[in-house]
Amino acid sequence: MAEVDAQKCFDVALDLVKQAGKVVREAIKKKKNIETKSSAVDLVTESDKAVEKMLISGLSEAFPDHKFIGEESVSAGEKCVLTDEPTWIIDPIDGTMNFVHSFPYTCISVGLWVKKEALVGVVYNPVLEQMFTAIKGQGAFLNGEKLSVSGEKDLGQALVFSEMGTSRDQEKVNTVLTNITNLMPKVHGFRSMGSAAMHMAYVALSAADAYFGFGAHCWDTAAGFLLVKEAGGIVIDTEVFAG
Ligand code: IPD
Ligand code: CA
Repeated sequence: MAEVDAQKCFDVALDLVKQAGKVVREAIKKKKNIETKSSAVDLVTESDKAVEKMLISGLSEAFPDHKFIGEESVSAGEKCVLTDEPTWIIDPIDGTMNFVHSFPYTCISVGLWVKKEALVGVVYNPVLEQMFTAIKGQGAFLNGEKLSVSGEKDLGQALVFSEMGTSRDQEKVNTVLTNITNLMPKVHGFRSMGSAAMHMAYVALSAADAYFGFGAHCWDTAAGFLLVKEAGGIVIDTEVFAG
């Protein structure tokens, strides 16, 4: 496998994500064409599809041998397989429900994984102009300013994110509600912003202390994973630990 130039990958991704941000920033103010996917609250708009197309086309032009996992491509039937090959994992709009309602916590999330490890992560909220970036081993940044997680170890002092997700399967809903009910008396505060990638970016920023999610997809977390790690935090996949 050819050596991957992390800086070049980052530069190309950053430029494309900024361009995609302009599309999202304009589209969020307008009426959207909305379709549903796995449930009545799992949404996709023409902007999700347009942004994913734009990112994959720009990245594959720059890196013809790289692979892609994109939320909307997978929804359209593409395989979701992570190999050792350089793979861009893309959520064109994370927080689509927010985007549909013009609620400004929505973002573009792009992660590059190589040999099943995160190398580059970009999470961009173009409405609030927040560009979160990370390259493995070089730290995490918000608009160029270095980030570090809060380091809070006392749950009673922690602001914790979680949320319902896009499944309305009664068993899953009950599990999430039970988790929240059990946690609520133990935490300092509880918040839910409607975007897994934004949650992870805000943990990296130390605007919150922790985030836990149930049923997130790889495109929701591929970039946020690196932001949290590079900001000195930890990310745990309970399925891996359970296995
Ligand atoms: C969703 C958001 C949400 C999380 C869901 C995701 P989408 O992504 O990240 O916060 O709870 O699990 O599916 O559908 O807005 O890209
Ligand atoms: Ca999405």
